[in-house]
Amino acid sequence: MLLNIPDVLSREQVQYCRAKLDVADWVDGRVSAGYQGSLVKENRQLPENSAVARELGDIVLAAIECNPLFISASLPSKVYPPMFNRYTGGQHFGNHVDNAIRLLPGSGDKIRTDVSATLFLADPDEYDGGELLIEDTYGVQSIKLPAGHMVIYPSTSLHRVNPVTRGARLAAFFWLQSLVREDAQRSILFDMDTAIQKLNQTSGDAKAILHLTGCYHNLLRMWSNP
Ligand code: NI
Repeated sequence: MLLNIPDVLSREQVQYCRAKLDVADWVDGRVSAGYQGSLVKENRQLPENSAVARELGDIVLAAIECNPLFISASLPSKVYPPMFNRYTGGQHFGNHVDNAIRLLPGSGDKIRTDVSATLFLADPDEYDGGELLIEDTYGVQSIKLPAGHMVIYPSTSLHRVNPVTRGARLAAFFWLQSLVREDAQRSILFDMDTAIQKLNQTSGDAKAILHLTGCYHNLLRMWSNP
């Protein structure tokens, strides 16, 4: 399931991040790529352990932790600390699939990447190109969102970033291990949760809502693996 999540960061938060990113030290983006990825990746990244990356990463983590749409759609178990990238002057990232397993910095714990996320930090009119192209069941989806908005998609997807031919494309990106490993099961749970929320708001039949809510939790119990 591919989902756009609007307004993850406020305009003020985006401006704050941009001010920090404008004066940050960037390194070759291949430092975090696997072998296949390193062959097709051409961009810049903040070093994972830099103070700026950690400070801005914490802002992103705090924002997603209280975003109901993000929680409902991804059911996060472990979240990789957000990283930041920058594409200018024709830089791009060719077709690849994200690494399945990553080591969490510091702890050495392993995280399985079930869901990939890109949080846009530049507005679409600030740069040309730079679309995130994701191949899903229904063809190739082209994603270029306003600053502060985020897309999440299954980490199993083949995806790429088009060359940026004008301006700069700035984004945060991260992965998460979900309580529910299978994308199809997460989609069912998300649809069900969305429907239950709507019924709650429209004062639907309370007994029916209770049964549906029970079904949601019993499916989550059956499918989740914390
Ligand atoms: Ni990727």
